[in-house]
Amino acid sequence: MDEVLRNSYLKGRLSGEIVIPPDKSISHRSLIIGAIASRELKEKIRIKNLSSGEDCIRTYEILESAGVEFQKVSDKELFLDAKKAFINPYEPLYCGNSGTTVRLLSGLFSSLNGFECEFTGDESLKKRPMARIIEPLSLMGSEISSNENKLPLKIHGKTLSAINYVSPIASAQVKSAILLAGLNAVGCTKVIEPYLSRNHTEIMLKYLGAKIKVGKDKTGFWTTVEKSHFEPKDIEIVGDISSAAFFMVAAAIVPDSRVLIKNVGINPTRTGILDIFSQTKVKYSILNERIVSGEKVADIEVCYTKDIEPFVIKGDIVPRLIDEIPILAVLAAVARGKSVIGDASDLRNKESDRIKVLVEGMRAFGVSVEEKEDGFIVHGAIKPDFDVELETHLDHRLAMSYYVLSLINRGTTIINGFNCCETSFPEFLKLMDKLKQF
Ligand code: S3P
Repeated sequence: MDEVLRNSYLKGRLSGEIVIPPDKSISHRSLIIGAIASRELKEKIRIKNLSSGEDCIRTYEILESAGVEFQKVSDKELFLDAKKAFINPYEPLYCGNSGTTVRLLSGLFSSLNGFECEFTGDESLKKRPMARIIEPLSLMGSEISSNENKLPLKIHGKTLSAINYVSPIASAQVKSAILLAGLNAVGCTKVIEPYLSRNHTEIMLKYLGAKIKVGKDKTGFWTTVEKSHFEPKDIEIVGDISSAAFFMVAAAIVPDSRVLIKNVGINPTRTGILDIFSQTKVKYSILNERIVSGEKVADIEVCYTKDIEPFVIKGDIVPRLIDEIPILAVLAAVARGKSVIGDASDLRNKESDRIKVLVEGMRAFGVSVEEKEDGFIVHGAIKPDFDVELETHLDHRLAMSYYVLSLINRGTTIINGFNCCETSFPEFLKLMDKLKQF
């Protein structure tokens, strides 16, 4: 059921430290790649600090219905055993809100000769484009039928052949779908993308000993993969910078705040928000850098910053902060001047049409925003004082971005369907409450 959240101006500050929950993208990959490795090794794989967000639960459930067995150690830790996988599931596979689940698993399942399945999803996922994976996977020989390139997708697994695929977009979901199919294809598969998208699939495959290579030449950023043997290793998941981003921006805009966010993944393909913080003179420091299961991680401290400068997001930084654009729009609303977000038309294909819905939401808070085909322009320096009622359109990142803006809105903010933040971040309100000091 849709929950309504009513929030009002924070008459205080945000202060203290929190541990940020596990990364959603890496959690999906730990389950999927963990299953591939466990099946090949005929051994269990231990996964530590797994996301409890609904999206990752969808991936877990689907793997379970394809014969992967799980033994829970605790809330966030389990053993995965894929010795008997993969078997044909009886029922359609429900992916909920999760694009990563359907796109990555389409890659794996379409490479399993004789595997049959059907993917479905919620109202948001049913609207999202799937041609971006159907096309390359079909070129490899897979048989996928769809409802005009949207869900439901029916997959008939085949023995696939390697391809050289030049992706027109920088998308980690597309790249990962092809790499996961390529792991089981005949020959060496190559994916080239125009800008580097998040590389967690590549890092995890390398960490587990798979035959994966990456590089850059005049054609773009390339990755190759082939059939591989794996090494038995535990996988530990670092905290999610996309979840940390809400607290980072909240700390920067709520007067007198200082927040320490622990265990945040700082893979360079995800840290575009830190570049924007530097551009806008937001005060932050990176502490205690280390490597966990191949991924860079650190603690991030952010302090309230009085005069936040406006900023520009365009070109190769876009994939490095694609999921942070809603919360960076909040930062832009406070920044003193005009911020420009462009080259981001794929935002229209996310959990909602994030350009259209965000522009409407920001306007409700009194922000002057110009909508563009590939982004928007925000005229900042607002001090919102409005009673606002917003819809989340099943988009978790919009729900949490509106919440952060509501902390400085002197009117009452009502967010309908707020519980969609469970998709990635069920702990959001609890952690926010922990930091509020009155
Ligand atoms: C993701 C990749 C990105 C991102 C999404 C998660 C992933 O999508 O927006 O939230 O885990 O691979 P695209 O690949 O569509 O850019």
